[in-house]
Amino acid sequence: MNDLAGKHIVLGLTGGIACYKAAELCRALIKEGATVQVIMTEAAAQFITPVTMQALSNRPVVHSQWDAREPNNMAHINLSREADAILIAPCSADFMAKLLHGRADDLLSLTCLARPIDKVPLLIAPAMNREMWAHPATQRNLAQLRADGTTVFDVGTGDQACGETGDGRMLESEELREDVIAFFQPKLLRGQQVLVTAGPTYEAIDPVRGITNLSSGKMGFAIARAAREAGAEVTLVAGPVHLPTPRGVSRINVVSAQNMLESTVKHAQEADVFIATSAVADWRPANASEQKIKKDGSGATPTLQFVENPDILATLAQSPRAQSGDLFCVGFAAESHDLLANATAKRARKGVPLLVGNIGPATFGQDDNALLLVDAHGAIELPRNSKLALARQLVREIATRKKI
Ligand code: CTP
Repeated sequence: MNDLAGKHIVLGLTGGIACYKAAELCRALIKEGATVQVIMTEAAAQFITPVTMQALSNRPVVHSQWDAREPNNMAHINLSREADAILIAPCSADFMAKLLHGRADDLLSLTCLARPIDKVPLLIAPAMNREMWAHPATQRNLAQLRADGTTVFDVGTGDQACGETGDGRMLESEELREDVIAFFQPKLLRGQQVLVTAGPTYEAIDPVRGITNLSSGKMGFAIARAAREAGAEVTLVAGPVHLPTPRGVSRINVVSAQNMLESTVKHAQEADVFIATSAVADWRPANASEQKIKKDGSGATPTLQFVENPDILATLAQSPRAQSGDLFCVGFAAESHDLLANATAKRARKGVPLLVGNIGPATFGQDDNALLLVDAHGAIELPRNSKLALARQLVREIATRKKI
């Protein structure tokens, strides 16, 4: 992906053992298409060398406000005018205190203070010992930095370099990469609660066997990620899939269609948008055996009776909140042929304002897809693209239709 193409990021490193993660982060940002200018404080250079950061960023690292190589001798002005964002990772407790007071006695703090505040956002990834993090001074500084418009990324929890365990270590480079990408996405669903179902369901025949399908969950997970990037609070009700949870998304794992229905109905009470991407099993064995069904040696095969599963989407689409327009329901249709006709008929049958058609066998398990959006006015095609790119387009379409 090239999610940061055209973005110029000033990456500031301050003193902390997490500087080693900044090396990977620099690489990750460049891989996403960004250009990166590294500024290091004197303390940062105690933890990682400028040589490493220069090699990774392909630019000389700057560290002094007295650097005479700048023709106008104003590195802090030049650096901050070019940037689409200043990202400080790691951001030490000391540097947070400096930012808070508008101190400007080194190149990085000077650049932060001199930046055009409305045009160049400041993002910080704090990194420190758990006691330093929990200290009232740090928490006070954090609240004020947020009030001043700084985006403060979460801290991680776990083992710390000092041997203690708790909150305060810097997020991993992959997590920060995702957070930086999300930061740049338009906040089309800000303040909205979005509920997504994804993946297959598994209907037990007995304790060791069951019926499921080939849905990978990738489209639903991409939609959950895109909705969160757009500023929504996202709940993802996932059938049995082995996919990592998108950052900032709250995930509920379920197994059967019945479990999925219960969880979805519960969370739909608060939701503004419901997107049903899950491939729910249409039927389940009527009487799942409590014990493993054994062969009896005679060659006889077991006879299975089925009952129809509840239709989760149709249930929610008929709820009073959906009918009054408070809950905007989006369905998916995995078809094998006649996509437009089948998707149009399914939209009417499910009673949803928007139905997204795709060709099941061409998308299950793949990283890309093509979508056909059907609503009351007709159909539009979203041509083949990565599932994440399509998910972002779908989020735009939903935001427009829901008039957020
Ligand atoms: N869906 C659901 N609960 C079900 C079945 C489907 O919520 N029990 C949702 C899916 O998540 C999807 C949409 O309904 O958003 C369409 O599902 P699909 O299985 O493609 O359609 P069906 O209703 O099963 O119709 P058909 O089998 O005729 O294609």
